Amino acid sequence: MNVVVATSNAGKIREIEEAMQGLGWTLSPLGSLPLPEETGTTYEENAALKACAAAVMLGRPALADDSGIEVEALGGEPGVYSARYGNRDSDVERNVYLLEKLRGQTNRRAKFVSVVILAYPDGHLETYRGELPGTLLEGPRGANGFGYDPLFVPDGETRTLAEMTVPEKRAVSHRGRALAALREAHRDGPPARETTPGV
Ligand code: IMP
Repeated sequence: MNVVVATSNAGKIREIEEAMQGLGWTLSPLGSLPLPEETGTTYEENAALKACAAAVMLGRPALADDSGIEVEALGGEPGVYSARYGNRDSDVERNVYLLEKLRGQTNRRAKFVSVVILAYPDGHLETYRGELPGTLLEGPRGANGFGYDPLFVPDGETRTLAEMTVPEKRAVSHRGRALAALREAHRDGPPARETTPGV
């Protein structure tokens, strides 16, 4: 299957390429095609916006993801708005903003969420979700990764995601888990579509 990867994030493209190795897929970059704005209020909506636009315009199946971090003490904030949290411009500023919001909070529970959508040109969608639960520290640790990685220790770990190597993070991450579910579903070819009896 020839699949377009509907993202301009080089890190995500690499991660998707590695996760899909051995499936017999040919993955193509988006090229100069502009992606629609992420105007949805759920990860599913945003991932579908990107994947559907690419699938329809290029006439091939297209893969897109949307992700974020949900903080328990903040009622699930920032969620789908993680990339723009507090209108701060950089990862460091967003991390400082999050730490300020959590000052004095004893509940440091949070989870990363990733939704990966494979869209077909006829409008059919496959949706895969991966989650990574963990705890937020009171200050950053580690220099790898991006986003909220330096603040986040996954359950069962002592290191933050920013203290792990790229393959170590990929093995446990929310995106890695969503991609593993996609890969598993396609192990023997595209999964059968559900049909309504009589239709
Ligand atoms: P998007 O999926 O590219 O819209 O990214 C959403 C935002 O969520 C990113 O800009 C990060 O702030 C955050 N995020 C998503 N995945 C991760 C991750 O694996 N580590 C750290 N931050 C992440």
